[in-house]
Amino acid sequence: MTIQIRKPRIVAFTGSTRRPSKSRALAEAIGAAVRGQLDADVATFDVVDAGPGLGAAFTRHQLTPEAAAIVDAIEQADAVIAVSPVYKGSYTGLFKHLFDFVDQNALANKPVVVGATGGGHRHALIVEHQLRPLFGFFSALVVPTAVYASDHEFLDGRVVEPAVLERIEQAGTQLALLLAAQLQAAGARPELPIAHPERLEQPEQRRAVAS
Ligand SMILES: Cc1cc2nc3c(=O)[nH]c(=O)nc-3n(C[C@H](O)[C@H](O)[C@H](O)COP(=O)(O)O)c2cc1C
Repeated sequence: MTIQIRKPRIVAFTGSTRRPSKSRALAEAIGAAVRGQLDADVATFDVVDAGPGLGAAFTRHQLTPEAAAIVDAIEQADAVIAVSPVYKGSYTGLFKHLFDFVDQNALANKPVVVGATGGGHRHALIVEHQLRPLFGFFSALVVPTAVYASDHEFLDGRVVEPAVLERIEQAGTQLALLLAAQLQAAGARPELPIAHPERLEQPEQRRAVAS
């Protein structure tokens, strides 16, 4: 019997109003880290993709098709990567505004990686004190490793700081593990789709994936 498996769908959303965007680059790097472990589709959107219709909407009904499509994609995703630049000590207003339209039950039990970028390290704990609680509200499974990158840790639009790259890899691996475990629990796939079990840091995890 052949089992039809659809690839897991991961949606990355970032809160910058600018292009090029470091937070978008960080989200893409996390997405690539997940895909290094797991065969998944990753779609990346940002506030610019949502367009001015996002900020102008007071209700979901008022969202423009562009903005509504992103909300729909997040709700239908198997996992989410959420990254915002720090604006005035917090995630951006439009980042939160978009998540205000997401159904409160849509992200329950879904794996999520949170990340942020900022001008320096002063607001690095935004990932723990603001982004993690936001997804706690949604009862999402936020992975233990959150990723924060300062502007000086980028070169030519890409993260270059080894410590941040390590956290990107770690967060991506954690998301892949959660997704793979969910797929297996759902009986959707007879084998875990982890491509590189040797990259997992804990020997117990490696054995679990290999068996
Ligand atoms: C309006 C505004 C407010 C900002 N406030 C902060 C801040 O409070 N703390 C901080 O570390 N960086 C702050 N920054 C810097 C950005 O967070 C930082 O440059 C970030 O990497 C930009 O990400 P992006 O390239 O995705 O837009 C601010 C930038 C802007 C434009």
